[in-house]
Amino acid sequence: MKILLIHGPNLNLLGRREPQIYGTAGLDEINRRMQRTAEENGAELRVFQSNSEGALIDAIHEACNWADGIVINPGAYGHYSYAMRDALAAVALPTIEVHLSNVYAREEFRYKSVISAVVIGSICGLGWRSYLCAMESLIGILSDREQAARPSITPL
Ligand code: DQA
Repeated sequence: MKILLIHGPNLNLLGRREPQIYGTAGLDEINRRMQRTAEENGAELRVFQSNSEGALIDAIHEACNWADGIVINPGAYGHYSYAMRDALAAVALPTIEVHLSNVYAREEFRYKSVISAVVIGSICGLGWRSYLCAMESLIGILSDREQAARPSITPL
């Protein structure tokens, strides 16, 4: 099982960036925890962060050549990037959207996600644990699907 974890703009600054909102865990630390979770579940994890919309879209396109699913924190692009939404819809990989902060308890522009309609589900407000929930859920969903796709042998 292969998973792509994508971090959008400004998330390279985690740990230093508004820690009262996003927590004190840095991106490397979060990635390490997610690598561990993937390993424990027999999954392969690749991680990508970019501040640029085009690079994120390229990574989503690339993912359909190798990944079984995506966990994405789109950062602010999630609120308005129709291009990112279309990329996720185009590759049609099972995807979970993540936000560290509770976007519904913040500024009004954060209430809207343009990618929510093309993902399996969204998790927000749990800090770095939002990523953990998303990873564990995606692994569970992918293995359910794998099992359902296996031909069942009916005993004689
Ligand atoms: C965020 C929430 C977004 O509104 C914000 O622009 C971010 C981070 C989060 O993880 O809480 O960059 O995606």
